[in-house]
Amino acid sequence: VKVAFIGIGKIGQTIAYSTILDGLVSEAILYDIIPELPEKFEHELRHALASRGISTEVIGTNSLDDVNNADIIIITAGKPRKAGMSRRDLFVDNAKIMIDFANKLPPRNPGALYIMVTNPVDMMASVFMRFSKQYTISTGDQVETMRLRSYIAKRLKVPVNRVTGYVGGEHGEDAVVLWSTVKVNGKPFEEVAKGLTKEEVENYVKSIPGEIIRVMGGTTWGPGTIIKDIVRSIVLNEGRVMSIATPRVYEGEIVHISVPIVVGADIGPSLEAALPEADRQRLNKAVEDFYRVYKENLDHLLQTI
Ligand code: NAD
Ligand code: MLT
Repeated sequence: VKVAFIGIGKIGQTIAYSTILDGLVSEAILYDIIPELPEKFEHELRHALASRGISTEVIGTNSLDDVNNADIIIITAGKPRKAGMSRRDLFVDNAKIMIDFANKLPPRNPGALYIMVTNPVDMMASVFMRFSKQYTISTGDQVETMRLRSYIAKRLKVPVNRVTGYVGGEHGEDAVVLWSTVKVNGKPFEEVAKGLTKEEVENYVKSIPGEIIRVMGGTTWGPGTIIKDIVRSIVLNEGRVMSIATPRVYEGEIVHISVPIVVGADIGPSLEAALPEADRQRLNKAVEDFYRVYKENLDHLLQTI
């Protein structure tokens, strides 16, 4: 599989490293606008690959002309938020970059699958797909899903693989914990919570990335591994159920909202219909809220370009 990594900053490097070193890629293209950065990162990866005895072909480049015939294109290019900012504050700056990519990437990469990581990630997926007409997924709330499981496991002192459950909706402050899906040792959360409140869990899931950014300058290892696992499920056709955002049409616009969905060589089916009414209503509200904010931002953007 030929994979292009568009953006070789903090999260781009982490995703590329874990995806390539996991042996999921036969050819990798590393692209960024910073002179020499992709080329020097190429050397780093080649050294790591030599140690592992993996012969993946890697090229680092500052030219989009070298990004061609990729099967999967992972987009991390753009601005990250600083502590105290919302991901949505990045909309205009990063949407302009996505529109540029939407014009330049598809002609060189027929049939590629696009995976959006740049924030606000669901809205960037919608912008990219609107302008490129290419099928685009957002890594969405799979990141929140793993933050949720890790926190419950830590607080209730159970192995993390005994915790199941999903977070859906929009990636970020408005994410929706799908409590009906949350189980510990197969039992509903309420039966085993031992004083751990839903509010505390939700608060952790939504606030921890901001805290990591405040101290470490960005989130990398968590999302990097989680996003590699999304790529893995696609490339190896694992069919894992993950909470990623796929496109749907609402009020005539493409919007991206995460729900648990089967992720393999094909993406789907979604398990949304199997959720109880209360969770489905919260997801519908997330779609409405997403659309309202997205449309406002999009209209503003269209006036400025
Ligand atoms: P970073 O500043 O370390 O890296 C961004 C990279 O994008 C830089 O190397 C920069 O040169 C490059 N870039 C900017 N504009 C470009 C363009 N027009 N063409 C090519 N390259 C360009 O930031 P980061 O921490 O790696 O974060 C990148 C993005 O990913 C941010 O929007 C961040 O919020 C997002 N992010 C999302 C998740 C997620 O779970 N979805 C997780 C972490 C980061
Ligand atoms: C994350 O959740 O780790 C990313 O969206 C980065 C951020 O929080 O801005």
